[in-house]
Amino acid sequence: MSTNRRGFLKGLAGAGAGAAATGMAGCAPDISPAPFVNAEKDASRRVVLTVSRYPDLSRPGGAITLRVQGEQQVLVAHPQGTQYVVLTSLCTHSGCPLGFEKNEAICPCHLSRFALDGTVTHPPARQPLRQFSSSFDSESGELTIDFGAGEEGFPSVVDGKIFFPFAQFPDLQTPGGKVEGTPGGYGTAIFVFSLEDGTYAAVDSICTHQQCPVQFRETEDDLFCFCHNSRFTKTGEVREGPALVTGDLKKFSVTSDTTGVTVAIV
Ligand code: FES
Ligand code: FES
Repeated sequence: MSTNRRGFLKGLAGAGAGAAATGMAGCAPDISPAPFVNAEKDASRRVVLTVSRYPDLSRPGGAITLRVQGEQQVLVAHPQGTQYVVLTSLCTHSGCPLGFEKNEAICPCHLSRFALDGTVTHPPARQPLRQFSSSFDSESGELTIDFGAGEEGFPSVVDGKIFFPFAQFPDLQTPGGKVEGTPGGYGTAIFVFSLEDGTYAAVDSICTHQQCPVQFRETEDDLFCFCHNSRFTKTGEVREGPALVTGDLKKFSVTSDTTGVTVAIV
């Protein structure tokens, strides 16, 4: 079911509401978050939308905010023709839900703008939005969004584990090295760190406060959530910010041998 733009406040519940409410004092009057739509996923973590059922999405230039239980909330936009893009729907500046206008995702709170590939085109946001895998079948009019899809060239989950061969990921042989990416079959970015003491750590990239993605900061050697400034160690422990209430990043167990590093994703 779709909620209209007057449903903004209602729609914010559970979707970065704290940040959005804070930012609303600076809201631009003519930009609103894309209307909210709830949908179900299948066992493969795919969502299939019959686009014609959603007038806000079927018109070129339209967009909806899609909520699927257990997945990141996403902005589904229809720039033109049969082109559709799916991006994280929360602004990377302070977590406000995004609107869509003139082929850009726009934040109503402080007017950050993002291109169709998620890159920042206007500050104050500095971090890009994540793009999700999707495909449109023009015969059936169905848009399929794959929440479990991974990044090209990044290892996938096999039997609940991800293997990073040193031959392909030499940074993991150096203390202080790291790899970052989205494994197929998991669908969310993870970090794997080679720690200074010779051990390894692997953590999920989703902040436990309001589900913004955390970023690695070289200068601070930590993981930082730019939405509301929560800070985590490379082993996932929360150190500062509102995530002190919600807890550490999700941690994965890691083993290694002479050939590479294995992360258990279950
Ligand atoms: S929350 Fe500040 S620009 Fe989006
Ligand atoms: S989402 Fe609020 S601190 Fe990360």
